[in-house]
Amino acid sequence: MSAFIAPAVLVPVLCLPVAACAGGTEAISVVQPARQFTTAERYEANPGGAGSLATRRFDRPAASLPAAQRMTFTLGEALFEKLWVLAPSSTRASDGLGPLFNARACANCHPGNGRGCPEDGQGISGMVLKLSRRYRAEDGAFGVEGWHGMIPDYDFGWQLQDRAVPSLQPEGRLELEWIEAHGLRYPAPRIDLPPEVLTSLRVAPQIIGLGLLEAIPEADILMHADPEDADGDGISGRAQYAPGPDGAVRLGRFGHKAGMARLVDMTAQAFSQDMGLSSVLFPEGSGDCTLTQTDCLELPDGIDVGLRDNAEVSTEALQAVTDYVTWLGVPKRRDVADPQVLRGKQAFYQAQCHACHVPKFVTATSEDPVTSHQLIWPYSDLLLHDMGEGLADHRPEGVASGYEWRTAPLWGIGLTQENTGHAPRFLHDGRAATLDEAIRWHGGEAGAARDRYLALPAASRADLIRFLETL
Ligand code: HEC
Ligand code: HEC
Repeated sequence: MSAFIAPAVLVPVLCLPVAACAGGTEAISVVQPARQFTTAERYEANPGGAGSLATRRFDRPAASLPAAQRMTFTLGEALFEKLWVLAPSSTRASDGLGPLFNARACANCHPGNGRGCPEDGQGISGMVLKLSRRYRAEDGAFGVEGWHGMIPDYDFGWQLQDRAVPSLQPEGRLELEWIEAHGLRYPAPRIDLPPEVLTSLRVAPQIIGLGLLEAIPEADILMHADPEDADGDGISGRAQYAPGPDGAVRLGRFGHKAGMARLVDMTAQAFSQDMGLSSVLFPEGSGDCTLTQTDCLELPDGIDVGLRDNAEVSTEALQAVTDYVTWLGVPKRRDVADPQVLRGKQAFYQAQCHACHVPKFVTATSEDPVTSHQLIWPYSDLLLHDMGEGLADHRPEGVASGYEWRTAPLWGIGLTQENTGHAPRFLHDGRAATLDEAIRWHGGEAGAARDRYLALPAASRADLIRFLETL
């Protein structure tokens, strides 16, 4: 274990000051797993804490966002939805797209702030093919034990860009081939690349409640980690550590392999790799162009020296978009006390789904009224788990192996279709058309939980799915 991981993690006794502990002499740990299933738990209906939304939508600020910050939220929203244009153009403040890019707006890949889709009748949307090569000499770099050396592909960089400015050829088209396996289907990219190039197909995730996930204290995430499976339950759970664009190594939380620690880094990376737009954190005006792509490097960029912090996206704009994704609220749950939902919740616990999909956390206390000190119910431990061969991409990222994925948060999952407008698609590459299929794909550390789910009577499986739909 590397030096920056605290050797001993104290188990904090978490307690909401007002209701949960009022009058009691005993400190009640509010993050304990549920102990009874005949009634709903206190606060369970508010997965996003005090900011939980009365609406079913993914595009609203947390209810607790003060009026003073709503302007910033609205500005961030406009930038998230804005269609960027190529440089040079008459609208200097929104040019700089490309030369290579995947989409002209964040919103194109995160429709309605929900997930993308590998096929929606109008082609592929919100999908990205990540690329890299192994760089063995660098294994263990950054002082992180288990760090997999990875470098961008020499020709295409970190990601296949399937669009480009008119004077340039895109790097290729992303076409998917659907492969049958165990009565299920998964998409594989149909593309000719040298075998040394590692690929990972990713669908854009939903982006609600992310500021709350960023505010979970590191020690509380590490409390669930069990890298050597010391408790022998077959579930390890490892923390991701990856260097951000500033080179600092932090606990990773965002992306399907938790490769990014902070929302500002994730946002800046999206601007750079998905849209070819530079910012202070990713200053290259040519985005993901590689040294071999000389025609790409020669094209004009949208950087006006001395303006907008010498970037295509000013630091203020980057912060506004980051604030927008930080403050997006989580809808309240529906029907928490419905008997079928409670039975489904019990089945979820009995199958040990909650070993990885950890129901509750309390966020750290901070200056931010939305994310400070909230009891939240994301149903994720934000840790990496080996999910078996069926889900493997064989492309390591940070300390994550080609078999490991971050536990997907389950909040909001029942509202996917109505927010995105397309049929829901689950898992990292959107392969699963239903929640049942998503569970059937679980393998590796989650294989036993999947088997327990499959062994349930059909009615209990239906209860469990109904529970998920109310999240
Ligand atoms: C071309 C499609 C595409 C575009 C455009 C795009 N994203 Fe994403 N986004 C993705 C994919 C794919 C992932 C998953 C990445 C991974 O697994 O590392 C992602 C992940 C994220 C995450 C992390 C979510 C989580 O739960 O971990 C955030 C935040 C995010 N994007 C914000 C943005 C913002 C802000 C923009 C615009 C600046 C943007 N995205 C533009 C495809 C896109
Ligand atoms: C060993 C840890 C682990 C256990 C146990 C586990 N999961 Fe998961 N779950 C994951 C990971 C990791 C992912 C993301 C996998 C991917 O994207 O390929 C995931 C994804 C999901 C998804 C899809 C989420 C999305 O946004 O696409 C659902 C639904 C789900 N799990 C439900 C369950 C249920 C129900 C159980 C119990 C039967 C369960 N999981 C048990 C780790 C686990």
